Amino acid sequence: MDLNGIERLIAEMTLAEKLGQMTMSPAGSAQTGPVRGEATTEAVRAGAVGSLLNIWGREATERFQKLAVEETRLGIPLFFGVDVLHGHRTVFPIPLAEAGAFDPDLWERTAREAAREAAADGADLTFAPMLDIARDPRWGRMAEGPGEDPLVGARFAAAKVRGFQGGDLAAPASLAATAKHFCCGGAALAGREYAAADLSERAVHEIYLPPFRAAVDAGCAAIMSAFNSVGGVPMTAHVPLLRAWLREKLGFDGVIMSDYAAIEELIDHGVAADRTEAAALALKAGVDIDMVSNVYFSVLPDAVSRGLARIEDIDAAARRILILKMRLGLFDDPYRRTKEARKNSEAAKKLALDAARRAITLLTNDGILPLKENIRRIAVVGPLADAREEMVGPWTLAADPRQCTSILEGLRAALPDREIVHAQGVTIKDDDVSGVGAARALCEDADAVILCVGEAARMSGEAASRAHPGLPGRQRELAEAVLSTGRPVVALLSSGRPLIVPWLAERARALVATWFLGAGAGEAIAEVLIGRFNPTGRLPVTWPRAVGQIPIFFAERPAARPANPTDPFTSKYIDVANEPLFPFGHGLSYAEVKLGNLRLDREEFSAGEKIAVAVEARNLSDRPAQETVFFFARDRVAAAAPPVLELKGWAKVELEPRQTKKLSLTLSAEELSGLDSALEWRLEPGDFDIFAGLSADRRFLLSARLRCR
Ligand code: GLC
Repeated sequence: MDLNGIERLIAEMTLAEKLGQMTMSPAGSAQTGPVRGEATTEAVRAGAVGSLLNIWGREATERFQKLAVEETRLGIPLFFGVDVLHGHRTVFPIPLAEAGAFDPDLWERTAREAAREAAADGADLTFAPMLDIARDPRWGRMAEGPGEDPLVGARFAAAKVRGFQGGDLAAPASLAATAKHFCCGGAALAGREYAAADLSERAVHEIYLPPFRAAVDAGCAAIMSAFNSVGGVPMTAHVPLLRAWLREKLGFDGVIMSDYAAIEELIDHGVAADRTEAAALALKAGVDIDMVSNVYFSVLPDAVSRGLARIEDIDAAARRILILKMRLGLFDDPYRRTKEARKNSEAAKKLALDAARRAITLLTNDGILPLKENIRRIAVVGPLADAREEMVGPWTLAADPRQCTSILEGLRAALPDREIVHAQGVTIKDDDVSGVGAARALCEDADAVILCVGEAARMSGEAASRAHPGLPGRQRELAEAVLSTGRPVVALLSSGRPLIVPWLAERARALVATWFLGAGAGEAIAEVLIGRFNPTGRLPVTWPRAVGQIPIFFAERPAARPANPTDPFTSKYIDVANEPLFPFGHGLSYAEVKLGNLRLDREEFSAGEKIAVAVEARNLSDRPAQETVFFFARDRVAAAAPPVLELKGWAKVELEPRQTKKLSLTLSAEELSGLDSALEWRLEPGDFDIFAGLSADRRFLLSARLRCR
């Protein structure tokens, strides 16, 4: 099939057949939204469905494909979409955790492996990567994305698109990537799921669009519009951003699909009086595929006859969908992906373990970690201690949660010569505290306590906003009881978001963000706790000290009166410090690295030139170190108030004991541009500061001044 063949096909198709191609229906066992009508064999046979979601497995997908190819008038193959966010059969760490590895190569490799497994299960497209920049931990979907920073988001986007799509979209092990959710869901009012986002156009372009530009530049095959509205315009009907910016300015010619039932939900948004108006608005905005609401198929003919929708737009949508199917190789061989049934390879499990190790972030440590030889009796306590099925995290559909090792299992396997005792104490979210006493008693004579607390896997991800993002249920009572024994407590946080636990950070001997790490969870956590793996994870989000600080992030614009502790009339709270509990980029290791000697190769630069930035990293310890060094910039004066810090890159370094190495970063002048009043990226003359640091904590950044002519 080629483009001429596509044109011939379109010329032959009836309106109903075109609208059928524009219809994606649920067909499988996964429920990723409100229950809606499932695709029926009659609908597929009638050509009323062009793609299916939430279905996988060779037999199930081939049955529907056979129907479409052999029993419809034109034999146009279906494509199958599945949510493959962090693994398909083999579970990798949740994206927020994986982002903390700050390693695009790892991000690409896990996507490649996940694509291989999902394609073998009949998937042609994944509804991933999720690229929502998020700065509000009340929003549960922070778990699914790359964190708070647009540059991290952009690099994450490109790596995931490369990983999912590979070099050839038609290859049996490749999936079409769907960059989602376009855009600004992370700015939903008060972190509440599906709520409206009201923010400046400048913020939309500075913060939320860069990952999608990167996904388009990396060749992503599809984009999913978000549920939320932006400035009162629902994304599923957002002509300026979907048509003008995405299609016309960026030249994106792939498929745009709505999110689950989002076209019909234009009625709930109050911008459409009925399904016909909703369909017309979405089509006009350039949405090609109606996911689940079946509005296109049922009422677009009426919209056309009422002059609300144009046949040309329907043809354009159908064309883009048929071209996607052609690029996926489905016309040449509709069964190409399921032919080579590939099982969970040992390589996938090994990769999952490696990714898990590198996602673990050591937040505090007074030296209790790594656990020493004299720690003989270890009490492993808490509802996340022996909870392998929670380790999978919020977005796994086809994976068997039993593939994960629990923290308790990991520790027992790693320390066979120690006495390891266990008590759950409380459940994750119930009110029962009857087990606290026994758990406390178990800790009384322990040499160390590993306190395993946090969220259940489904307490983050979609439809999981939390107004009190601390420890759910009665876990705090358990923690207080364990802490009151006076025994050394190492607290592990399993979560899909930063949990607001300043009291625990204060009193535990060490605090570790273990997120949801997937198949290798227990083993990786044990390796870090005993020092077999030196923790290297760094925070991709700012970790608040209080809910009242949210939204909190490092790239904030300057306040009118920057905080000054000695002057009450400056920007600060009277009851909480301004600083987060842990800054973006924070993460400890068992070594100690210091930065020094930040140097720029020039004092002045002009557009088109490059700036070489160099800094030295010195390992002060007697053990090897792996460090991530961050480079920031600040434009001192610009047309719009420039953020006090913007991430411009990072570098990873391996250091032998006592070794010093020079790290360098080359910055193009254009990377120091800012949005002018017309929201175009422009380099403004004047002074810039360049910074290097081990996190966004401005108290410890090295800086150098630079002038743009
Ligand atoms: C869900 C999610 C989206 C997912 C889609 C299909 O509602 O918002 O991320 O890809 O529906 O499952």
